[in-house]
Amino acid sequence: MAETRAGAVVVRPSPRAIGSLRVPGDKSISHRYAMLAALARGVSMLHGYAPGADAGATLSCLAALGVAIRRPPGGAVEVAGRGLAGLTAPRAPLDALNSGTTLRLLTGIAAAHPFRTVIGGDDSLNRRPMRRITEPLGRMGASIQSRDGRPPLTIEGARLRGIAHQTEIPSAQVKSAVLLAGLRAEGPTSVTEPTPTRDHTERALEAFGAIVEGGPQTVTVRGGQELEGRELQIPGDISSAAFWIALAAAVPGSSLEILDVGLNPTRTAFLAIVRQAGASVDTTIERTAAGEPSGRIHVAHGGLRSFSIGPDEVPGVIDEIPALAALAALMPPGESLEVRGAGELRVKESDRISVLAAGFRALGAEVEESPDGFRLTARPLAGAQVDPAGDHRLAMAFAIAATGARTPSAISGAAAAAVSYPGFFEELARLTSGEGR
Ligand code: S3P
Repeated sequence: MAETRAGAVVVRPSPRAIGSLRVPGDKSISHRYAMLAALARGVSMLHGYAPGADAGATLSCLAALGVAIRRPPGGAVEVAGRGLAGLTAPRAPLDALNSGTTLRLLTGIAAAHPFRTVIGGDDSLNRRPMRRITEPLGRMGASIQSRDGRPPLTIEGARLRGIAHQTEIPSAQVKSAVLLAGLRAEGPTSVTEPTPTRDHTERALEAFGAIVEGGPQTVTVRGGQELEGRELQIPGDISSAAFWIALAAAVPGSSLEILDVGLNPTRTAFLAIVRQAGASVDTTIERTAAGEPSGRIHVAHGGLRSFSIGPDEVPGVIDEIPALAALAALMPPGESLEVRGAGELRVKESDRISVLAAGFRALGAEVEESPDGFRLTARPLAGAQVDPAGDHRLAMAFAIAATGARTPSAISGAAAAAVSYPGFFEELARLTSGEGR
Protein backbone atom coordinates (compact mmCIF):
# COMPACT_ATOMS: atom_id res chain seq x y z
CA MET A 1 0.00 0.00 0.00
CA ALA A 2 2.97 2.34 0.32
CA GLU A 3 5.06 3.03 -2.75
CA THR A 4 7.75 5.58 -3.27
CA ARG A 5 7.30 8.07 -6.06
CA ALA A 6 9.94 10.83 -6.18
CA GLY A 7 10.22 11.17 -2.41
CA ALA A 8 6.48 10.82 -1.85
CA VAL A 9 4.82 7.80 -0.28
CA VAL A 10 1.44 6.76 -1.61
CA VAL A 11 -1.01 5.74 1.10
CA ARG A 12 -4.07 3.84 -0.06
CA PRO A 13 -7.41 3.58 1.68
CA SER A 14 -7.42 0.59 4.03
CA PRO A 15 -10.20 -1.07 5.96
CA ARG A 16 -8.84 -1.67 9.47
CA ALA A 17 -5.70 -2.32 11.48
CA ILE A 18 -5.21 -5.60 13.28
CA GLY A 19 -2.22 -7.16 14.97
CA SER A 20 0.49 -6.73 17.51
CA LEU A 21 3.71 -4.80 17.24
CA ARG A 22 6.67 -3.21 18.96
CA VAL A 23 7.69 0.39 18.33
CA PRO A 24 11.26 1.75 18.20
CA GLY A 25 13.02 2.61 21.45
CA ASP A 26 11.99 5.78 23.26
CA LYS A 27 13.71 8.81 21.77
CA SER A 28 13.59 11.00 24.90
CA ILE A 29 15.05 8.25 27.09
CA SER A 30 17.70 7.33 24.49
CA HIS A 31 19.11 10.87 24.34
CA ARG A 32 19.31 11.06 28.13
CA TYR A 33 20.90 7.64 28.66
CA ALA A 34 23.55 8.34 26.00
CA MET A 35 24.42 11.72 27.54
CA LEU A 36 24.51 10.48 31.14
CA ALA A 37 26.51 7.42 30.06
CA ALA A 38 29.05 9.81 28.49
CA LEU A 39 29.34 11.72 31.80
CA ALA A 40 29.49 8.56 33.94
CA ARG A 41 32.51 6.60 35.15
CA GLY A 42 32.84 3.28 33.36
CA VAL A 43 31.12 1.67 30.42
CA SER A 44 27.35 1.69 29.82
CA MET A 45 25.42 -0.69 27.58
CA LEU A 46 22.18 0.69 26.21
CA HIS A 47 19.74 -1.83 24.75
CA GLY A 48 16.83 -0.78 22.54
CA TYR A 49 18.41 2.59 21.67
CA ALA A 50 16.11 4.65 19.40
CA PRO A 51 17.03 3.95 15.76
CA GLY A 52 15.90 7.30 14.32
CA ALA A 53 18.10 10.13 13.07
CA ASP A 54 17.46 12.30 16.16
CA ALA A 55 18.94 9.85 18.66
CA GLY A 56 21.73 9.11 16.17
CA ALA A 57 22.62 12.82 16.19
CA THR A 58 23.19 12.66 19.94
CA LEU A 59 25.66 9.79 19.49
CA SER A 60 27.56 11.63 16.72
CA CYS A 61 27.78 14.81 18.80
CA LEU A 62 29.01 12.86 21.85
CA ALA A 63 31.63 11.16 19.68
CA ALA A 64 32.79 14.60 18.51
CA LEU A 65 33.14 15.52 22.21
CA GLY A 66 35.60 12.68 22.70
CA VAL A 67 33.27 9.86 23.79
CA ALA A 68 34.06 6.37 22.47
CA ILE A 69 30.84 4.77 21.25
CA ARG A 70 30.61 1.24 19.85
CA ARG A 71 27.68 -0.58 18.34
CA PRO A 72 28.55 -4.25 18.82
CA PRO A 73 26.50 -6.86 16.91
CA GLY A 74 23.12 -7.39 18.57
CA GLY A 75 22.01 -3.78 18.43
CA ALA A 76 23.18 -2.34 21.77
CA VAL A 77 25.03 0.96 22.05
CA GLU A 78 28.15 0.83 24.21
CA VAL A 79 29.29 4.16 25.65
CA ALA A 80 32.67 4.55 27.36
CA GLY A 81 31.99 7.17 30.03
CA ARG A 82 34.49 9.97 30.53
CA GLY A 83 33.37 11.17 33.95
CA LEU A 84 31.60 14.39 34.88
CA ALA A 85 34.33 16.68 33.55
CA GLY A 86 35.75 14.45 30.86
CA LEU A 87 34.45 15.70 27.51
CA THR A 88 37.03 17.19 25.17
CA ALA A 89 36.83 20.22 22.86
CA PRO A 90 35.23 19.36 19.51
CA ARG A 91 37.31 20.09 16.41
CA ALA A 92 34.32 21.20 14.32
CA PRO A 93 30.80 22.51 14.93
CA LEU A 94 28.42 19.84 16.25
CA ASP A 95 25.45 18.97 14.02
CA ALA A 96 22.27 18.12 15.92
CA LEU A 97 20.42 17.61 12.59
CA ASN A 98 16.66 17.97 13.30
CA SER A 99 16.88 17.24 17.01
CA GLY A 100 15.90 19.89 19.55
CA THR A 101 16.56 17.53 22.46
CA THR A 102 20.14 16.90 21.27
CA LEU A 103 20.85 20.59 20.89
CA ARG A 104 19.24 21.84 24.08
CA LEU A 105 20.47 19.11 26.44
CA LEU A 106 24.00 19.07 25.03
CA THR A 107 24.15 22.84 25.41
CA GLY A 108 23.54 22.36 29.13
CA ILE A 109 26.37 19.83 29.30
CA ALA A 110 28.77 21.87 27.15
CA ALA A 111 28.11 24.96 29.30
CA ALA A 112 29.89 23.19 32.16
CA HIS A 113 32.97 22.20 30.11
CA PRO A 114 35.72 24.84 29.89
CA PHE A 115 36.09 25.05 26.11
CA ARG A 116 34.24 26.38 23.09
CA THR A 117 31.48 24.27 21.52
CA VAL A 118 29.53 25.37 18.46
CA ILE A 119 26.26 23.49 17.91
CA GLY A 120 23.58 23.90 15.25
CA GLY A 121 21.37 21.78 13.07
CA ASP A 122 19.26 21.69 9.93
CA ASP A 123 17.17 24.64 8.72
CA SER A 124 14.23 23.62 10.89
CA LEU A 125 16.31 23.34 14.08
CA ASN A 126 18.17 26.57 13.30
CA ARG A 127 14.83 28.41 13.34
CA ARG A 128 13.85 27.22 16.83
CA PRO A 129 13.98 29.49 19.92
CA MET A 130 16.95 29.04 22.27
CA ARG A 131 16.76 32.01 24.67
CA ARG A 132 14.83 29.72 26.98
CA ILE A 133 18.13 27.85 27.57
CA THR A 134 20.75 30.52 26.91
CA GLU A 135 19.24 32.83 29.54
CA PRO A 136 19.40 30.42 32.54
CA LEU A 137 22.73 28.92 31.42
CA GLY A 138 24.10 32.46 31.13
CA ARG A 139 22.99 33.18 34.70
CA MET A 140 24.86 30.05 35.77
CA GLY A 141 28.06 31.53 34.31
CA ALA A 142 28.34 30.21 30.74
CA SER A 143 28.68 32.60 27.83
CA ILE A 144 26.50 31.63 24.86
CA GLN A 145 26.23 33.50 21.57
CA SER A 146 23.29 32.81 19.26
CA ARG A 147 21.95 34.09 15.98
CA ASP A 148 19.25 36.35 17.40
CA GLY A 149 18.15 33.73 19.91
CA ARG A 150 18.43 30.83 17.44
CA PRO A 151 21.11 28.24 16.62
CA PRO A 152 23.88 27.82 15.87
CA LEU A 153 25.00 28.46 19.44
CA THR A 154 28.59 29.21 20.39
CA ILE A 155 29.07 28.07 23.97
CA GLU A 156 32.04 29.12 26.08
CA GLY A 157 31.89 26.71 28.98
CA ALA A 158 32.81 27.85 32.47
CA ARG A 159 32.74 26.97 36.15
CA LEU A 160 29.03 27.25 36.84
CA ARG A 161 27.08 28.23 39.92
CA GLY A 162 23.72 26.69 40.79
CA ILE A 163 20.56 28.73 40.24
CA ALA A 164 16.86 28.46 40.99
CA HIS A 165 15.19 28.69 37.60
CA GLN A 166 11.50 29.17 36.98
CA THR A 167 10.35 28.35 33.44
CA GLU A 168 7.57 30.34 31.80
CA ILE A 169 6.70 27.67 29.27
CA PRO A 170 6.67 24.06 30.48
CA SER A 171 9.52 22.30 28.64
CA ALA A 172 11.32 19.10 29.54
CA GLN A 173 14.18 20.13 27.28
CA VAL A 174 14.73 23.39 29.17
CA LYS A 175 14.38 21.69 32.55
CA SER A 176 16.87 19.02 31.47
CA ALA A 177 19.42 21.46 30.01
CA VAL A 178 19.52 23.39 33.30
CA LEU A 179 19.65 20.24 35.49
CA LEU A 180 22.46 18.74 33.38
CA ALA A 181 24.45 21.97 33.71
CA GLY A 182 23.64 21.86 37.43
CA LEU A 183 25.34 18.47 37.75
CA ARG A 184 28.69 20.27 37.61
CA ALA A 185 27.68 23.61 39.16
CA GLU A 186 28.62 24.83 42.59
CA GLY A 187 25.69 24.27 44.97
CA PRO A 188 22.14 23.24 44.18
CA THR A 189 20.32 23.93 40.92
CA SER A 190 16.55 23.79 40.85
CA VAL A 191 13.94 24.15 38.12
CA THR A 192 10.31 25.01 38.80
CA GLU A 193 7.75 24.52 36.02
CA PRO A 194 4.22 25.92 35.68
CA THR A 195 3.04 22.38 34.80
CA PRO A 196 5.25 19.32 35.30
CA THR A 197 6.74 17.87 32.10
CA ARG A 198 8.16 14.44 31.24
CA ASP A 199 10.53 13.38 34.01
CA HIS A 200 12.94 11.06 32.16
CA THR A 201 15.97 13.17 33.11
CA GLU A 202 15.15 12.88 36.79
CA ARG A 203 14.60 9.10 36.56
CA ALA A 204 17.73 8.63 34.43
CA LEU A 205 19.89 10.66 36.83
CA GLU A 206 18.77 8.39 39.66
CA ALA A 207 19.42 5.30 37.53
CA PHE A 208 23.01 6.47 37.01
CA GLY A 209 23.41 6.99 40.75
CA ALA A 210 22.67 10.68 41.35
CA ILE A 211 20.33 12.06 43.99
CA VAL A 212 17.46 14.17 42.68
CA GLU A 213 15.39 16.08 45.20
CA GLY A 214 11.80 17.31 45.01
CA GLY A 215 9.51 16.97 42.03
CA PRO A 216 7.30 16.95 40.16
CA GLN A 217 6.94 20.77 39.98
CA THR A 218 10.31 21.77 41.45
CA VAL A 219 13.30 19.51 40.89
CA THR A 220 16.75 20.03 42.46
CA VAL A 221 20.19 18.51 41.79
CA ARG A 222 23.36 19.25 43.71
CA GLY A 223 26.56 19.80 41.75
CA GLY A 224 29.51 17.42 41.80
CA GLN A 225 27.64 14.11 42.00
CA GLU A 226 29.49 11.34 40.16
CA LEU A 227 27.54 9.03 37.86
CA GLU A 228 28.23 5.32 37.37
CA GLY A 229 27.96 3.47 34.03
CA ARG A 230 24.97 1.12 33.75
CA GLU A 231 23.43 -1.54 31.54
CA LEU A 232 19.94 -0.35 30.65
CA GLN A 233 16.99 -1.40 28.51
CA ILE A 234 15.07 1.37 26.72
CA PRO A 235 11.33 0.73 26.30
CA GLY A 236 9.36 1.43 23.10
CA ASP A 237 8.41 5.03 22.38
CA ILE A 238 4.80 5.77 23.32
CA SER A 239 4.88 8.86 21.09
CA SER A 240 5.53 6.56 18.11
CA ALA A 241 2.86 4.15 19.36
CA ALA A 242 0.45 7.11 19.36
CA PHE A 243 0.01 6.86 15.58
CA TRP A 244 -1.08 3.21 15.77
CA ILE A 245 -3.31 3.96 18.74
CA ALA A 246 -5.00 6.73 16.73
CA LEU A 247 -5.44 4.38 13.77
CA ALA A 248 -6.94 1.52 15.78
CA ALA A 249 -9.12 3.86 17.81
CA ALA A 250 -10.55 5.46 14.69
CA VAL A 251 -11.21 2.59 12.30
CA PRO A 252 -14.14 0.22 12.99
CA GLY A 253 -13.06 -3.40 13.42
CA SER A 254 -9.50 -2.47 14.43
CA SER A 255 -7.64 -3.97 17.35
CA LEU A 256 -3.94 -3.50 18.05
CA GLU A 257 -1.64 -4.58 20.82
CA ILE A 258 1.61 -2.67 21.36
CA LEU A 259 4.24 -4.57 23.33
CA ASP A 260 7.17 -3.44 25.52
CA VAL A 261 6.23 0.21 25.32
CA GLY A 262 7.13 2.87 27.88
CA LEU A 263 4.30 3.73 30.27
CA ASN A 264 5.90 6.53 32.28
CA PRO A 265 2.92 8.47 33.72
CA THR A 266 4.30 11.78 32.42
CA ARG A 267 3.89 10.40 28.88
CA THR A 268 0.52 8.60 29.00
CA ALA A 269 -1.90 11.54 29.19
CA PHE A 270 -2.93 11.07 25.58
CA LEU A 271 -4.31 7.60 26.36
CA ALA A 272 -6.89 9.24 28.63
CA ILE A 273 -7.79 11.61 25.80
CA VAL A 274 -8.22 8.72 23.34
CA ARG A 275 -10.54 7.07 25.89
CA GLN A 276 -12.42 10.33 26.27
CA ALA A 277 -12.89 10.30 22.47
CA GLY A 278 -14.64 6.93 22.86
CA ALA A 279 -12.03 4.25 22.08
CA SER A 280 -11.18 1.31 24.31
CA VAL A 281 -7.62 1.53 25.68
CA ASP A 282 -6.13 -0.87 28.26
CA THR A 283 -2.63 -0.72 29.63
CA THR A 284 -0.69 -3.29 31.64
CA ILE A 285 2.58 -2.39 33.34
CA GLU A 286 4.80 -5.49 33.12
CA ARG A 287 8.08 -4.21 34.52
CA THR A 288 9.86 -1.15 35.86
CA ALA A 289 13.55 -0.83 34.96
CA ALA A 290 15.72 2.16 35.91
CA GLY A 291 12.55 3.81 37.22
CA GLU A 292 10.78 3.58 33.86
CA PRO A 293 7.60 1.48 33.77
CA SER A 294 6.78 -0.37 30.56
CA GLY A 295 4.33 -2.96 29.33
CA ARG A 296 1.54 -3.37 26.82
CA ILE A 297 -1.26 -1.24 25.42
CA HIS A 298 -4.34 -2.73 23.81
CA VAL A 299 -6.51 -0.41 21.79
CA ALA A 300 -9.74 -1.07 19.92
CA HIS A 301 -12.20 1.07 18.06
CA GLY A 302 -15.14 2.55 19.92
CA GLY A 303 -17.94 4.93 18.90
CA LEU A 304 -16.08 8.23 18.62
CA ARG A 305 -17.26 11.66 19.70
CA SER A 306 -15.94 15.21 19.87
CA PHE A 307 -13.09 15.86 22.30
CA SER A 308 -10.91 18.76 23.34
CA ILE A 309 -7.46 19.52 24.73
CA GLY A 310 -7.10 22.54 27.02
CA PRO A 311 -4.01 24.58 28.02
CA ASP A 312 -3.30 22.55 31.18
CA GLU A 313 -3.33 19.28 29.23
CA VAL A 314 -1.10 20.45 26.37
CA PRO A 315 2.35 19.84 27.97
CA GLY A 316 1.42 16.20 28.62
CA VAL A 317 0.42 15.52 25.01
CA ILE A 318 2.63 17.98 23.13
CA ASP A 319 4.10 15.33 20.82
CA GLU A 320 0.84 13.41 20.37
CA ILE A 321 -1.30 16.28 19.05
CA PRO A 322 -0.57 15.34 15.39
CA ALA A 323 -1.73 11.75 16.09
CA LEU A 324 -4.79 13.03 17.95
CA ALA A 325 -5.61 15.29 15.00
CA ALA A 326 -5.43 12.24 12.69
CA LEU A 327 -7.83 10.42 15.03
CA ALA A 328 -10.17 13.42 14.93
CA ALA A 329 -10.04 13.60 11.13
CA LEU A 330 -11.24 9.96 11.03
CA MET A 331 -14.21 10.51 13.38
CA PRO A 332 -17.76 10.53 12.01
CA PRO A 333 -18.39 13.70 9.98
CA GLY A 334 -19.37 16.63 12.18
CA GLU A 335 -17.43 15.46 15.27
CA SER A 336 -14.53 17.74 16.20
CA LEU A 337 -11.32 18.25 18.14
CA GLU A 338 -10.54 21.61 19.71
CA VAL A 339 -6.99 22.38 20.91
CA ARG A 340 -6.28 25.54 22.95
CA GLY A 341 -3.16 26.88 24.67
CA ALA A 342 -0.76 25.06 22.34
CA GLY A 343 1.26 27.98 20.94
CA GLU A 344 4.40 25.84 21.49
CA LEU A 345 3.34 23.78 18.49
CA ARG A 346 4.36 26.71 16.30
CA VAL A 347 8.03 26.31 17.29
CA LYS A 348 8.40 22.55 16.92
CA GLU A 349 10.04 20.78 13.95
CA SER A 350 7.64 22.86 11.83
CA ASP A 351 4.91 25.37 12.64
CA ARG A 352 2.77 22.41 13.65
CA ILE A 353 -0.44 24.44 13.73
CA SER A 354 -0.35 25.84 10.21
CA VAL A 355 1.27 22.82 8.51
CA LEU A 356 -1.18 20.50 10.28
CA ALA A 357 -4.14 22.69 9.30
CA ALA A 358 -3.08 22.84 5.64
CA GLY A 359 -2.49 19.08 5.43
CA PHE A 360 -5.75 17.98 7.04
CA ARG A 361 -7.65 20.56 4.98
CA ALA A 362 -6.11 19.13 1.81
CA LEU A 363 -7.46 15.71 2.88
CA GLY A 364 -10.95 17.18 3.30
CA ALA A 365 -11.25 18.02 7.01
CA GLU A 366 -12.45 21.43 8.09
CA VAL A 367 -9.75 23.19 10.14
CA GLU A 368 -9.88 26.61 11.76
CA GLU A 369 -6.56 27.89 13.04
CA SER A 370 -6.07 30.20 16.02
CA PRO A 371 -2.80 31.68 17.31
CA ASP A 372 -2.45 28.93 19.93
CA GLY A 373 -4.49 26.05 18.58
CA PHE A 374 -7.07 24.83 16.11
CA ARG A 375 -10.48 23.25 15.72
CA LEU A 376 -10.65 20.29 13.37
CA THR A 377 -14.09 19.10 12.27
CA ALA A 378 -14.29 15.71 10.62
CA ARG A 379 -15.64 15.58 7.06
CA PRO A 380 -15.48 12.74 4.53
CA LEU A 381 -11.82 12.49 3.45
CA ALA A 382 -10.54 12.18 -0.11
CA GLY A 383 -7.05 11.40 -1.35
CA ALA A 384 -4.76 14.40 -1.80
CA GLN A 385 -1.15 15.46 -2.16
CA VAL A 386 -0.09 16.53 1.35
CA ASP A 387 3.12 18.18 2.46
CA PRO A 388 4.33 17.68 6.03
CA ALA A 389 7.06 20.33 5.51
CA GLY A 390 9.78 17.91 6.62
CA ASP A 391 8.11 17.29 9.99
CA HIS A 392 8.30 13.60 10.99
CA ARG A 393 5.23 13.59 13.22
CA LEU A 394 3.07 15.33 10.61
CA ALA A 395 4.22 12.91 7.88
CA MET A 396 2.97 10.04 10.06
CA ALA A 397 -0.23 11.81 11.13
CA PHE A 398 -1.21 12.56 7.52
CA ALA A 399 -0.51 8.94 6.57
CA ILE A 400 -2.82 7.66 9.33
CA ALA A 401 -5.64 9.97 8.21
CA ALA A 402 -5.01 9.05 4.55
CA THR A 403 -5.90 5.40 5.27
CA GLY A 404 -9.48 6.62 5.81
CA ALA A 405 -9.72 8.64 2.58
CA ARG A 406 -11.81 7.48 -0.40
CA THR A 407 -8.84 7.52 -2.81
CA PRO A 408 -5.02 7.27 -2.47
CA SER A 409 -2.93 10.14 -1.10
CA ALA A 410 0.70 11.10 -1.67
CA ILE A 411 2.67 12.25 1.37
CA SER A 412 5.61 14.27 0.10
CA GLY A 413 8.97 14.14 1.84
CA ALA A 414 7.70 11.14 3.77
CA ALA A 415 11.27 10.04 4.52
CA ALA A 416 11.15 12.59 7.35
CA ALA A 417 9.37 9.90 9.39
CA ALA A 418 12.83 8.34 9.93
CA VAL A 419 13.71 11.20 12.28
CA SER A 420 11.88 9.21 14.96
CA TYR A 421 10.47 6.12 13.23
CA PRO A 422 12.46 4.35 10.50
CA GLY A 423 10.21 1.67 9.00
CA PHE A 424 6.96 3.47 9.80
CA PHE A 425 5.48 3.11 6.31
CA GLU A 426 6.40 -0.58 6.08
CA GLU A 427 4.69 -1.16 9.43
CA LEU A 428 1.62 0.75 8.24
CA ALA A 429 1.44 -1.52 5.18
CA ARG A 430 1.77 -4.63 7.36
CA LEU A 431 -0.84 -3.65 9.94
CA THR A 432 -3.44 -2.63 7.38
CA SER A 433 -2.95 -5.58 5.04
CA GLY A 434 -4.26 -8.23 7.41
CA GLU A 435 -0.71 -9.61 7.91
CA GLY A 436 -0.32 -7.96 11.30
CA ARG A 437 -1.73 -10.81 13.39
C1 S3P B 1 11.27 16.40 24.65
C2 S3P B 1 10.54 17.44 25.13
C3 S3P B 1 9.50 18.12 24.35
C4 S3P B 1 9.08 17.28 23.16
C5 S3P B 1 10.23 16.74 22.41
C6 S3P B 1 11.06 15.84 23.30
C7 S3P B 1 12.31 15.82 25.50
O1 S3P B 1 9.99 19.37 23.89
O2 S3P B 1 8.25 18.03 22.30
O3 S3P B 1 9.80 16.00 21.30
O4 S3P B 1 12.83 14.72 25.18
O5 S3P B 1 12.65 16.43 26.52
P1 S3P B 1 9.87 20.71 24.77
O6 S3P B 1 10.74 20.54 25.96
O7 S3P B 1 10.39 21.80 23.86
O8 S3P B 1 8.42 20.86 25.08
